[in-house]
Amino acid sequence: MAITYFEKERIFKLDTPNSSYVIGIVDKENFVGHVYYGKKLRDANIAYLLRTGEGPFVPSENNRERVSFYDTFPMEYAGNGLGDYRRSSISVRTAGGHTAVSLFYVSHKIYAGKPGLAGLPATFGDENACETLELFCEDPVLGLKVTLLYTAFSDVDVITRSVRIENDGEMLYLTKALSFSMDMDNRDFTLLTMHGSWARERMLEHRKVKKGFMGVESVRGESSHQEHPFMALAAGNADQSQGEVYGMHFVYSGNFIGQVELGQFDTVRVGMGIHPENFCWKLEKGESFQTPEVVLVYSDTGYDGMTHQFHELYRNHLIRSEYKDKKRPILINNWEATYFDFNTEKLLSIAKKASELGIEMLVMDDGWFGHRNDDSSSLGDWYVNEEKLNGGLKHLVDEVNKLGLKFGIWFEPEMISPDSKLYEAHPDWAIQIPGREGSLCRNQYVLDLTRKEVRDYAYESVASILRSANIEYVKWDMNRQLSDIGSYGLPADRQGELYHRYVLAVYEMQERLVTEFPHLLLENCSGGGARFDPGMLYYSPQIWCSDDTDAVERLKIQESTAMIYPLSTMGAHVSDCPNHTVGRVTPFETRGHVALAGTFGYELDITKIPEEDRQMIPKQVAMYHKYNDLVRSGDYYRIASYQENHYFDCYEVVSKDKSEALVTFVQVINRPNYKSRRITLKGLDPQKNYCLEGEDTVYAGDTLMYAGILIQNPWGDFQSKLLHFVEKNMK
Ligand code: GLA
Repeated sequence: MAITYFEKERIFKLDTPNSSYVIGIVDKENFVGHVYYGKKLRDANIAYLLRTGEGPFVPSENNRERVSFYDTFPMEYAGNGLGDYRRSSISVRTAGGHTAVSLFYVSHKIYAGKPGLAGLPATFGDENACETLELFCEDPVLGLKVTLLYTAFSDVDVITRSVRIENDGEMLYLTKALSFSMDMDNRDFTLLTMHGSWARERMLEHRKVKKGFMGVESVRGESSHQEHPFMALAAGNADQSQGEVYGMHFVYSGNFIGQVELGQFDTVRVGMGIHPENFCWKLEKGESFQTPEVVLVYSDTGYDGMTHQFHELYRNHLIRSEYKDKKRPILINNWEATYFDFNTEKLLSIAKKASELGIEMLVMDDGWFGHRNDDSSSLGDWYVNEEKLNGGLKHLVDEVNKLGLKFGIWFEPEMISPDSKLYEAHPDWAIQIPGREGSLCRNQYVLDLTRKEVRDYAYESVASILRSANIEYVKWDMNRQLSDIGSYGLPADRQGELYHRYVLAVYEMQERLVTEFPHLLLENCSGGGARFDPGMLYYSPQIWCSDDTDAVERLKIQESTAMIYPLSTMGAHVSDCPNHTVGRVTPFETRGHVALAGTFGYELDITKIPEEDRQMIPKQVAMYHKYNDLVRSGDYYRIASYQENHYFDCYEVVSKDKSEALVTFVQVINRPNYKSRRITLKGLDPQKNYCLEGEDTVYAGDTLMYAGILIQNPWGDFQSKLLHFVEKNMK
């Protein structure tokens, strides 16, 4: 049993393979308290941790100090405005203008499996994979029914949480509705978050948790380049491979907040959910609201352990595409090759060379529609520009197919250019505030997808192109963040719903797309990696990591991304040099080794690159085919972090049966007067023996892991090596 209710103790115990999560119901009023989350426990005799036995503490015994109770009790989902002065999980505005909420346990239900969340992406699992607890709570004064949903998985140390709010009372506005909250004792926690900007997404940031408030957030309408909907709390001296780490990840693609608050009694309240800023959701009597879900991961083997749980969860319980367990076609994308300046002949010349060298798909990026020759026009006018694509799209696709390549195409379906036929016909289709001139970003506005007619138009634009030719891949881009929040489709008292309705609309469109085109390979993208989040992974098995394709910058971006996402999800390409973002020149071989960590492909003018680079492509193609199964499905370990040491990067992927391991080593900056570097491997079988492919020396697994091996310093900067260890049978 993954979830058990102990009636006498009034305790719920949720177990995963190595963790337990315990909830307690206390006092006559039925407060829901958080008892424990950590290493797996054999029994549930820990209700005493709620301290209800320590003197007259609960309101039924000491109502004189009700506020003290509210302000210290470890709440499972914190109410608002009645004396718990820590951050709330939920808040409302009633017709009378009041904001308080207080929740009490009413009943519960435990069952095998996991329900879907209507209209939202969510992890899934069948009756054998997980169990779900629904805790029915209510605020009797408001008539608000709040169900706390928990699912415990049996194959990963993951608990998911979300909340369903049903209004059974008078109309009110929901002004805050987090997906989870939890109060824990502080254990010298360090908070790990990810921050960045365009072209440098998801840089790791470690901060000691100090008294007061800290966290991560986005109010940009998408998960963003700037912050990531992820937090981890590492206890005491936990590090990469040992100690306790709690990971929290939001399965959502819009505004979010992750909050951490260390209070007066050294307790930490953590929470995550939709950002309350500019959020105001009207709930008439009988209406309900479902929050997106948060994934909680527990690891007692440091960040490595956390990474493995996230990878397994996303590979087995979130990504649905048929490509999930398959090699992706090696693609060549024309963006950095031509930008907007291309035509059929140019694309076919790239495709021809690509096919000779073993590349498997041509992707036509931005600029094939309307009269778009730069970024100042035509978004919304999804008609093929026949001046560029003479002969039409189908002709191009057929010709590319004849060369033995698949064909893929770029869209930015959520946008509208002021210079477009669409805007001329429907200026009100842009998100905007009447009387204010909209703020342009990359010369474009965002379509008001909360309106069905707009959504239908945008969807049909994409779908009709896909129906018109043999298109097997779509790159779905989104190149600006939301502003000027206003919709002609929403009444005044529902304008505060726009941000969330927008995200729901994107999900609805992508669901339609993958339903109508089940064999399509979809890659999400947002000005690089601004919408790399678990929500989008539910629809696309891969996401473009960053517009920064420089091999060195990518080491950092991919290190953080791989900490929580499987390598199979990271869009990564070999691009041209000097690199278009930073002007750096790196060897073609190193660019290939770095891109091998992701989906692998090319983004350069293959007809113009130096001959010696071109000659290397078939070798890289062979390398991809040789290692991709391992890279996609193996266990990933971080060995050295270039983000931290500023000299070199090293990671490893080990096959599930521990019979082989691939180590990628990149020396970013050479150091003078340094001997060879010693690295220790991880995740091998200590009892097995291994050889480096192509060499005879036999290494014991335990030697490789505990004593390590020496890697000779390559000569020069930006040099890389692949070390493939294979099991050596000594019989
Ligand atoms: C975004 C994407 C790029 C490219 C351009 C096209 O920046 O991240 O890869 O598709 O848009 O405009």
